[in-house]
Amino acid sequence: MNDQSGRGGAFPRVAQQLRTARYHWLVTGAAGFIGSNLVEALLKLGQRVTGLDNFATGHQHNLDQVQAAVGDEAWSHFQFIRGDIRVPDDCAHACEGVDYVLHQAALGSVSRSIADPQTTNDTNITGFLNMLTAARDAKVKRFVYAASSSTYGDHPALPKVEDRIGNPLSPYAVTKYVNELYANVFARCYGMESIGLRYFNVFGPRQDPQGAYAAVIPQWVSALIHNRPLAINGDGETSRDFCFIENVVQANLLAAMADKPEAVNQVYNVALSGRTSLNQLYAMMLALLEPRFPHLAGHHPEYKDFRPGDVRHSQADINKAAQLLGYVPTHNIEQGLALAMDWYVASLTRP
Ligand SMILES: NC(=O)c1ccc[n+]([C@@H]2O[C@H](COP(=O)([O-])OP(=O)(O)OC[C@H]3O[C@@H](n4cnc5c(N)ncnc54)[C@H](O)[C@@H]3O)[C@@H](O)[C@H]2O)c1
Repeated sequence: MNDQSGRGGAFPRVAQQLRTARYHWLVTGAAGFIGSNLVEALLKLGQRVTGLDNFATGHQHNLDQVQAAVGDEAWSHFQFIRGDIRVPDDCAHACEGVDYVLHQAALGSVSRSIADPQTTNDTNITGFLNMLTAARDAKVKRFVYAASSSTYGDHPALPKVEDRIGNPLSPYAVTKYVNELYANVFARCYGMESIGLRYFNVFGPRQDPQGAYAAVIPQWVSALIHNRPLAINGDGETSRDFCFIENVVQANLLAAMADKPEAVNQVYNVALSGRTSLNQLYAMMLALLEPRFPHLAGHHPEYKDFRPGDVRHSQADINKAAQLLGYVPTHNIEQGLALAMDWYVASLTRP
């Protein structure tokens, strides 16, 4: 899925740099949506990659797709460790000989964390601390980790700027903020280099459409293709800054390779700085799918109650990532949705 043709910004230079030097990367959450896309991009750039995952929400079929996409030669530079970030020995084993860590393993979903805060805490805070400690002990060059836009909580300002956050609105948001605090403290106490990437509603191929905690785009595409009822929480005017996976891959590689000292030990918004309401998203998805699925003619969503813990509007200011990392998104929401729909149609209609 990943083509590395991003124009503008620092990415073409960084991609070229990686093509000429092989590093050893650890991607945690490698069998998940974002993790598997990172593994694919790194292998295509000739890198050596270790993946760590316990399959809590990830799938072997995601890794199988990466293998098919990168081919045998690149795949021979991948090793997979089935392990759990809640187990310190698994983290230490995974970090052996690693240059860069891209830490994605976590339990996502605001709703899941409200239903079961303890398990989310164990994975997202204890697991995170285990990984940070293992990475410190292995003397990795840099620890890049998945932070979250949920850290903005109830702060009303739009667009969201990195240093102005509010109170967390869910256990999930607490865990992601604690990650940032720990990363910051490891920089102060142990001189460790880290960068946190606050993702805003990422979407794209391999995002899981199954289960109660599926994200909105895969949940809706599955409902539309299979002609099941599609629910919008609230009045549909809730808005998000939906970000295609290629932009997230770019941000991770830029963060790992950033060489300006002032760029390190920071957190960055990763999004488009766009604002799309759920009603607009629904209309865009329907327009892409209707020509292929005649049963969608005249389709209407159902409107339900607002969900607890959800923020009303979310939109990123991406100037900090642009200035310090050279981040320039390559895919807007329309381009990303078109690619994602193609992938979902192919994978959800496969016999
Ligand atoms: N997708 C988004 O919109 C979004 C937004 C903000 C932040 N994030 C963060 O990005 C990261 C990746 O999210 P994703 O969307 O790819 O989710 P995902 O569920 O597809 O991937 C997470 C992966 O982590 C693995 N994992 C979970 N617990 C583990 C454990 N204890 N040990 C080892 N592996 C474990 C899962 O099996 C899964 O493969 C997460 O940290 C998430 O919080 C995602």
